[in-house]
Amino acid sequence: MADFFAEFRNDHRFVLRTLVDLRKAVDAGDLATARQLLDALDNAAGPHMEFEERFLYPSLIPLLGEERVKALISDHQGAAEMLHRAKEIVRKDSLTEEDRTFLHGFIREFLQHAADCEGTGLLAEALSPERVREFGEQIVALRATGKPLTVYKGVAETT
Ligand SMILES: [Fe+2]
Repeated sequence: MADFFAEFRNDHRFVLRTLVDLRKAVDAGDLATARQLLDALDNAAGPHMEFEERFLYPSLIPLLGEERVKALISDHQGAAEMLHRAKEIVRKDSLTEEDRTFLHGFIREFLQHAADCEGTGLLAEALSPERVREFGEQIVALRATGKPLTVYKGVAETT
């Protein structure tokens, strides 16, 4: 059976590793690697954020309040829009200084999401064991059916 806390944290670790590698690829001007990393990030973040929006965050409203949960969901929209732009930028043959500045900002913001989100995993420890067991099943199931983040949030038709 899936351990929700391990699955959830491993997703955030994947985001952390991918973004650290992306920063290196951007600084080295290795756009082929940057493309692969951004695709992997898009594919992993979509099912994860869909899980949060549909299952985790609504369960945290009694603890966090409706406003904070709305803000977390709206952060996903911003993350998807920045990811879409980052993917467009690395399709080019070379990066300008402005491109690199944007990509560095994108990496910082996405890392901030992963770090903030890790805290909602702590809050989930206050929920019932049954609910947490369901979360484990839901986060794993969405990896098979979920869409890339840019598609899920409607900023790209396909990846
Ligand atoms: Fe998350």
